[in-house]
Amino acid sequence: SASFSIFPKEHPKKLMTCNEWDGLPKLPVPPLQQTLDMYLKCMGHLIPEEQFKKTKVVVEKFGAPGGMGEFLQKKLLERSEHTANWVYDYWLEDMYLSNRLALPVNSSPVMVFPKQNFRSQSDSLRFAAHLISGILEYKSLIDGRALPVDYARGQLAGTPLCMDQYNKVFTSYRLPGPKMDTLVAQKSTVMPEREHIIVACKNQFFVLDVVINFRRLNEKDLYTQLERIKKMSDIEEERLPPIGLLTSDGRTQWAEARSVLIKDSTNRDSLDMIERCLCLVCLDEPSGTEQTDTNRALLMLHGGGTDKNGGNRWYDKPMQFVIGADGCCGVVCEHSPFEGIVLVQCTEYLLRYMRGSPSKLVRAASMSELPAPRRLRWKCSPDIQTFLMASADKLQRLVKNLDMNVSKFTGYGKEFIKKQKMSPDAYVQVALQLTFYRCHGRLVPTYESASIRRFQEGRVDNIRSSTPEALAFVKAMGNSSKITVCSLKIELLWTAIKAQTNYTILAITGMAIDNHLLGLREIAKELKLEKPELFSDTTYATSIHFILSTSQVPTIEEMFCCYGPVVPNGYGACYNPQMDHIIFCVSSFRDSAETSSDLFVKTLEGCLKEMQDLCIKCNTEAKPADSTKRMDGTTKSKL
Ligand code: COA
Repeated sequence: SASFSIFPKEHPKKLMTCNEWDGLPKLPVPPLQQTLDMYLKCMGHLIPEEQFKKTKVVVEKFGAPGGMGEFLQKKLLERSEHTANWVYDYWLEDMYLSNRLALPVNSSPVMVFPKQNFRSQSDSLRFAAHLISGILEYKSLIDGRALPVDYARGQLAGTPLCMDQYNKVFTSYRLPGPKMDTLVAQKSTVMPEREHIIVACKNQFFVLDVVINFRRLNEKDLYTQLERIKKMSDIEEERLPPIGLLTSDGRTQWAEARSVLIKDSTNRDSLDMIERCLCLVCLDEPSGTEQTDTNRALLMLHGGGTDKNGGNRWYDKPMQFVIGADGCCGVVCEHSPFEGIVLVQCTEYLLRYMRGSPSKLVRAASMSELPAPRRLRWKCSPDIQTFLMASADKLQRLVKNLDMNVSKFTGYGKEFIKKQKMSPDAYVQVALQLTFYRCHGRLVPTYESASIRRFQEGRVDNIRSSTPEALAFVKAMGNSSKITVCSLKIELLWTAIKAQTNYTILAITGMAIDNHLLGLREIAKELKLEKPELFSDTTYATSIHFILSTSQVPTIEEMFCCYGPVVPNGYGACYNPQMDHIIFCVSSFRDSAETSSDLFVKTLEGCLKEMQDLCIKCNTEAKPADSTKRMDGTTKSKL
């Protein structure tokens, strides 16, 4: 009904029609030798020389004519013929479903909204009702296949991207399992079933039907229902234990607790309602902490623990919209069904919807004929109480352990980097390498997510940013900054950026090595073959222990994405480059004596300044004369 455009102006107006993106090319299987050569190139400078010699022998044996590699490659090629995407299932299991770590901090990214100024409880409920209206609008766009198709931007811009991930935003559920989780997708039925949202409030869960008698609730109805939920949650005598805490535990522990929980039919019914809901809306209590960016990020990542809003969550559900009474708002996302970019698209739509269509609420809610929302009931056996205590304890440790630093670097942004004719993303990646080197005196296997949505059912592959070229640059930056070496430093920076950009292009065209190696490993397992030595080699284990896990998540609206580290001694580094500034969200664990998020961010700021100085001092003369040609040798071509 709104007359404003919900999509950014430059967004192509094409709608999401099946043929367009269903007709995308299939993800290629890269040539075997290319992957093996690249694997050696990626690891050679990151491990001791002796170990590398051994690994070289192992890799050569694997890739020898008539060897195991060729056989597995053939099998992968066969697999790619009869699947839409040969790596999808392997990747999903490896990246998410078989990972046993707790979802908060370790796996679920969050979006943090700007702080909202709620003057009263009704302000926050009004915000919630408005947001839910937007969610329902967005859901109907997805269901009607009426979302505009996303197109690739940046490197190799212009191709349509696979829209498959959007269909999973409101229909998936990550069911915990003893060894592996399952990503359940709700089947669409011919007759739409009654649709509902679960509202979490004071650790209680309420069913908010959003379609009643075939009519979608309007904002005023939603507000009335939310007010009723709020009142119900205040009744102390009816309060039930914080069952949501179980979903914040390790996946095996939660699976075990769940198997006990479902023995009771009341619990089964409650679980069923949560598993089939569209999403959660978590009405959080004020946290009592100062609302800095870092604190809001922390609260979004883990709810602040059991004494704050830690139990006011259900982590298995992909979308949890958090609305804090103190204005701390955002989204917590279960990552297995879709990538951060889809999360950004959805939340940006919602923020624009809320800004563009003024709330249609009158100040006071009227009495309503609507049936009252229902509280979900739980029967808590002593066993469940024990599980709950263990989950609470685990969450508290996670809360204490997370070391987070959200910081806005205001020295410059994308604009300055583009003026240098460098790829902003590659530049930031090289800056992160320099920072890590300054903090730790070495480089480590690094993960940067690269979208492969140019292909059918494409998710991501990895850009291994700790290239040998990056190492050469960061080493040179350690030397004294005499004028004489300035030209060498800028040359090494160029070479590092060029290597990074080339890797990016390989990755987004489906030619990176991580998915391919994973495919070879998994198909051997599937065929019940002995594990190839390549995958039992220590170098391989090192190569997938990502001490630095990075991702660019740009936004148009004012908000930011963040996540935790993926290994105990690592960093999570998410960045949001804007024209004149860059937001960095750096996380690590306090348990690790090696890491410190504050030190990392402080060092990063220094590195970015030094790199700018270097560019200003040396890049002017060195810039290619032809202004259409970029320093990395690519041209701004459209595919
Ligand atoms: N000179 C001048 N400008 C350049 C340039 C150069 N040498 N190289 C690139 N640029 C421009 C681009 O044209 C682009 O312009 P735009 O702002 O008008 O779009 C801009 O700089 C950004 O390009 P770049 O920094 O190279 O990065 P990118 O946008 O191509 O992003 C990835 C690279 C890897 C991040 C991207 O391909 C990707 O995969 N993103 C998804 C990551 C993801 O999934 N994150 C979520 C994980 S949960």
